[in-house]
Amino acid sequence: MSEKAFIDIKNLSIGYSSRSGKVIKVLRDVSLTIKRGESVGLVGESGSGKSTLALAALGYFKRGLRALDGSVSFDGVDMLKLDRDDLQAIRGGRLALIPQNSGQSLTPTLHIGQQVAEALRLHSD
Ligand SMILES: Nc1ncnc2c1ncn2[C@@H]1O[C@H](COP(=O)(O)OP(=O)(O)O)[C@@H](O)[C@H]1O
Ligand SMILES: [Mg+2]
Repeated sequence: MSEKAFIDIKNLSIGYSSRSGKVIKVLRDVSLTIKRGESVGLVGESGSGKSTLALAALGYFKRGLRALDGSVSFDGVDMLKLDRDDLQAIRGGRLALIPQNSGQSLTPTLHIGQQVAEALRLHSD
């Protein structure tokens, strides 16, 4: 087993610009490594930024949010530099988020079969 970090988040800050133009930080200087085969638990009160960090590991930021500083690397790939197509090739195949409330994460206007099949269709033959 490789001892190299599989997920390597370094000095990551995430934030948004307020209406007055001030930059508000949601995450400040967060560093975290996960090695292959390792499980890491992240604990914090509601609103402390757990979901924001998990989504950033996938190179995803909720509307308005952006990486202000730091880096996010997955298996040596800089997730903050990839374009949409390259991100899609990784997400749902090699790296996935299992949401806390999966039911709420489904799109109500699409049949469930389409949504379940999407990842398989995109990432397998
Ligand atoms: N799209 C957004 N724009 C601005 N702030 C946001 C956005 N999404 C989340 N936040 C803020 O980021 C903080 C962290 O949220 P979140 O990552 O969902 O926390 P947790 O998962 O730990 O409950 C919260 O204070 C929340 O208000
Ligand atoms: Mg959350």
